[in-house]
Amino acid sequence: MKRETILTGDRPTGCLHLGHYIGSLASRVRLQHSCDQYVMIADTQALTDNFKTPEKVRENVVEVALDYLAVGIDPDKTVIFIQSLLPQLAELTMYYLNLVTWNRLKHNPTVKLEIKQKAFGENIPAGFMTYPVSQAADITAFKATLVPVGEDQKPMIEQTNEIVRHFNRLYNTEVLVECRAEIPEMARLPGIDGQAKMGKSLNNAIYLGDPEDILKKKVKQMYTDPNHLKVEDPGKVEGNPVFIYLDAFGEDVQKIAELKDHYRRGGLGDSVVKNYLFEELNKFLTPIRERRVAFSKDKGEVLRLLMEGTRKAYAKAEETLQEVKKVMHLDYKF
Ligand code: TRP
Repeated sequence: MKRETILTGDRPTGCLHLGHYIGSLASRVRLQHSCDQYVMIADTQALTDNFKTPEKVRENVVEVALDYLAVGIDPDKTVIFIQSLLPQLAELTMYYLNLVTWNRLKHNPTVKLEIKQKAFGENIPAGFMTYPVSQAADITAFKATLVPVGEDQKPMIEQTNEIVRHFNRLYNTEVLVECRAEIPEMARLPGIDGQAKMGKSLNNAIYLGDPEDILKKKVKQMYTDPNHLKVEDPGKVEGNPVFIYLDAFGEDVQKIAELKDHYRRGGLGDSVVKNYLFEELNKFLTPIRERRVAFSKDKGEVLRLLMEGTRKAYAKAEETLQEVKKVMHLDYKF
């Protein structure tokens, strides 16, 4: 079987949390051994809704890189790079914009939801409206066949493939390659407040770099079964974030099954389950936290790794751009 190429990435608008881990980081760590993987720190995309605070985006480029390194995305196996350093991506975006209708962009479900959340009103920046096209440029520049992302990104993959098919048909070529999303079974992790999704803006996240005392505090605050008032009361396990987290991060399946039974029967207090969850999460996060601290002692080295990755990514994107320009009759000798 042909080796797959992966392109994926994150907007550097904050540190990464357990939701990112479940949604995509775990797949990336696993797939880097068998695939050619590119992971992009999407600072250009982050600016589409953070253009007023570029310094925040800049700071978070390093934070996201630290999260990647801490969870075990290995720069010897994965090309980690910074989006804004690749002018090829902006150039491809310009060409693809001709192949997409304004109406299609308005109906992209992810964009629609984000517009609502961000309260742009009538003043939606054109750069934000068109970011799915820029994302198609990111993916196609690397001829990615596989994109491990959370389920909210599915419409982006669909739109990318529409652009690929349109482009190849129009210019009678096979230069661009279609991709598929790899969405994990547990596509999203609820927030500690019980909301369906963990998110920075929702203020309900546990971060990969959270120190032990903060982790303890957050687990203590966690939303559980609101009807489980007294220890003796029978409790609900399904949809209970504490048990969802245990399923996702706990190691002792047997013990988790016993706790669930006991909770359902009644007689098991939330605090006992939470203490156990804290132990399990802390076991999972401690090595990540320690690696994060170690890498953050030498940010110069982190930046050096990013530049090394960016140079590799630049060469690949340039190759594709030249192929694209050739079929578009833009292959001048200059
Ligand atoms: N849209 C993604 C996010 O919000 C980031 C991203 C940009 C991305 N380009 C991508 C993800 C290409 C996968 C593939 O986190």
